[in-house]
Amino acid sequence: MAPQTAYDRAVNVLKQNDRGTYTVPTKGLYPFQWNWDSCLTALGQRHVDEARAWTEIETLFAHQWEDGMVPHIVFHEVSDQYFPGPEVWRTNRPTPTSGMTQPPVAGFAAKRIFDGAKDRVLAEERARRLLPKINAWHKWFFANRDPHGEGLVAILHPWESGRDNSIDWDAALERVPTEGVGEYSRRDTQHADPAHRPTKTQYDRYLWLVQRFRSLNWDNSRLHDASPFQVVDPGFNAILIRSCADLAAMADALDEPGIAADNRAWANKGLAAMEGLWSEPHGQYLCRDRTINTLIDSASIGGILATFAAIPSGRAHAIARTVERLSQSVQFSVPSHDPADRRFDAPRYWRGPVWLVTNYMIADGLAAAGENAVAKLIIDSSLELIEKSGFAEYYDPISGTPCGGGHFTWTAAMVVEFLSKQ
Ligand code: GLC
Repeated sequence: MAPQTAYDRAVNVLKQNDRGTYTVPTKGLYPFQWNWDSCLTALGQRHVDEARAWTEIETLFAHQWEDGMVPHIVFHEVSDQYFPGPEVWRTNRPTPTSGMTQPPVAGFAAKRIFDGAKDRVLAEERARRLLPKINAWHKWFFANRDPHGEGLVAILHPWESGRDNSIDWDAALERVPTEGVGEYSRRDTQHADPAHRPTKTQYDRYLWLVQRFRSLNWDNSRLHDASPFQVVDPGFNAILIRSCADLAAMADALDEPGIAADNRAWANKGLAAMEGLWSEPHGQYLCRDRTINTLIDSASIGGILATFAAIPSGRAHAIARTVERLSQSVQFSVPSHDPADRRFDAPRYWRGPVWLVTNYMIADGLAAAGENAVAKLIIDSSLELIEKSGFAEYYDPISGTPCGGGHFTWTAAMVVEFLSKQ
């Protein structure tokens, strides 16, 4: 039998983790549905089965809260493999969910599936149903996470960023207390090497925030001002801005001018406000700690991911040069943190490793800005990693060693995307 191609192996990973109407990121470590994982997974699924791709996003939105929030985890099944589970969140949902959100990539994903769909009738029907739901999520963000109308939204917990353990959050987390958190037993360190995972003190702070929000009954209109952790992340905002712009374009195609106008206005306001996060010395955007109104001096991939939105071309070109510079100091691009920073930690998650999802979004943004050579460098690096180390959750950028969980869904989905374009 001929050896399986990377494409076939990737499709197999998607199938192994498919639970019918949603896909788990990987069995064991992450046995439920995660928000941005699912949206990015649908991009891979569309090449195999378009209807299944739409279902992946629809299942996520079936658990959208009445206020518009789309939760970061949907606990479809009971499992004692994961902490913190529903008994910690206590959000009182019909199907248990977490109480916070994740990078809103659904608008982008839906448009990409819509644009490439071969079954136009199906795509129109499914996109039309999703449109008001994604719109409600965007509206929720600006109402609840940008209460002063700056144009950019804050995350209230590192887990919302999707870059859970980034160095970006360290200083802001220091201001989060740990008193009264109580005893708990982590599961992540049983599935993955503790050296790749967050420390105990960080975990205490994560849980303190969860308990604080829970004590406010997960009332989103109160959480922002009550949170000691409010960070404006350029990567997260770029994803939101891109999704708003893409939703606007899809709304035009579906003849929904009201949704198109609102989303276009949010995207334009966000793009203008993003300029306040630019750092000339770093050649990228930085996070801002909203509680003290200060830029966070941490050159992470969040500020590079900003290229996913239609930022000014001069900024995109500068970011491309930064990616080239970073690629000189590692074997595999794009590291999630600048290796020149002493806090860089090659195998610890989001503090150095390469992730294929961020690679995908950065390459997409840079290609749109005409930076095709750098986009190609990123895609080639991604595919090299797969050949060397399989479909891992993330990779050490220096050695290429696979880290975290294995047989990872979104890594496989990105490979299907990369290979389908070539
Ligand atoms: C980790 C990642 C997060 C992802 C989740 C499931 O928590 O940091 O971005 O959604 O795993 O893959």
